[in-house]
Amino acid sequence: MTVSSAPGKVYLFGEHAVVYGEPAVPCAIERRATVAVEPRDDDHVRVEAEDLTLDGFTVEYSGDANDRPDVDVPTPLVDAAMGYIDAAVEQARDALGAPDAGFDVVVESDIPLGAGLGSSAAVVVAAIDAATRSLGRELDPREIAERAYRAEYEVQDGQASRADTFCSAMGGAVRVEGDDCRTLDAPNLPLVVGFDGGAGDTGALVAGVRALKERYDFAARTVGSIGDVVRAGERLLADADPTEEPDEVLLSELGRLMDFNHGLLEALGVSSRSLDNMVWAARMADAHGAKLTGAGGGGCIVALDPTEETETALRFTPGCEDAFRAELADEGVRAEDDRAARRREDEGES
Ligand code: MEV
Repeated sequence: MTVSSAPGKVYLFGEHAVVYGEPAVPCAIERRATVAVEPRDDDHVRVEAEDLTLDGFTVEYSGDANDRPDVDVPTPLVDAAMGYIDAAVEQARDALGAPDAGFDVVVESDIPLGAGLGSSAAVVVAAIDAATRSLGRELDPREIAERAYRAEYEVQDGQASRADTFCSAMGGAVRVEGDDCRTLDAPNLPLVVGFDGGAGDTGALVAGVRALKERYDFAARTVGSIGDVVRAGERLLADADPTEEPDEVLLSELGRLMDFNHGLLEALGVSSRSLDNMVWAARMADAHGAKLTGAGGGGCIVALDPTEETETALRFTPGCEDAFRAELADEGVRAEDDRAARRREDEGES
């Protein structure tokens, strides 16, 4: 099998506003989706999802994407996962010039679905890479990012920015403003994630912000203000030495901007009680700053704290299911064939 992995991400700044052309700064984190692909002799696609923080499932369907499988898992979850995998397979077929290529696909992910950590982008990026490599074509990470963006754009009915997919394909911290996507030389920030065990509906949340923005000038200005916060954050990152541990001054200034960013997202209606509880738990534990990450509605927050305090406080916060330190993932999409082969060998030996 050909195996690829790609990282999830947190937004330091700028989700939602990035959909309207404002800049955003997401950072890839060491939580990865791994996709193994084997080409088939027919045009069918068989998908096995081992752990998408939902019950594992296996489905097989023909080349017709409308041919939905009959499985014993809640339909919206299967549809969400399958929609992205369908779209990734279509992109791989297009890149290969092989519209009838069939694949066996096995997905494993330690990124919770729909929780603001970029699970769908990571699955799509890794799936495009593994499927194309399985038929002998190696794509540049920028092309994978572009194709993954097209896949997300299609599944999310045109309501997607390039931020999640570019970040997952390239790794590290990135800056995205419309079509302009760049990698950043950022210092290694002490990121802590809190997860409420829930998920938000990205399409509905993006549509809600769009409706507010169209109805009220002050909501449109709120979106613009998020862009201003991002630009201020970028200046801080640009002035920092990426080889040094970030100092207290930098962390407290970045943290203040994260707090501000959360307030603006809250005003746009995309926070939730559990996200706010976790943000406040982090602030009370003296984190430099905290905000929701991703589409919101439920899922994850990200805080800045080099000490253990925030992680500990989050663990004791009602409604917080998991808290962990998120290391920046320097590598974006990568081949895992050797690692997978080594693991199989080790399992065979034991
Ligand atoms: C979702 O992870 C981030 C949003 O900004 C949507 C997008 O950028 O596609 C809400």
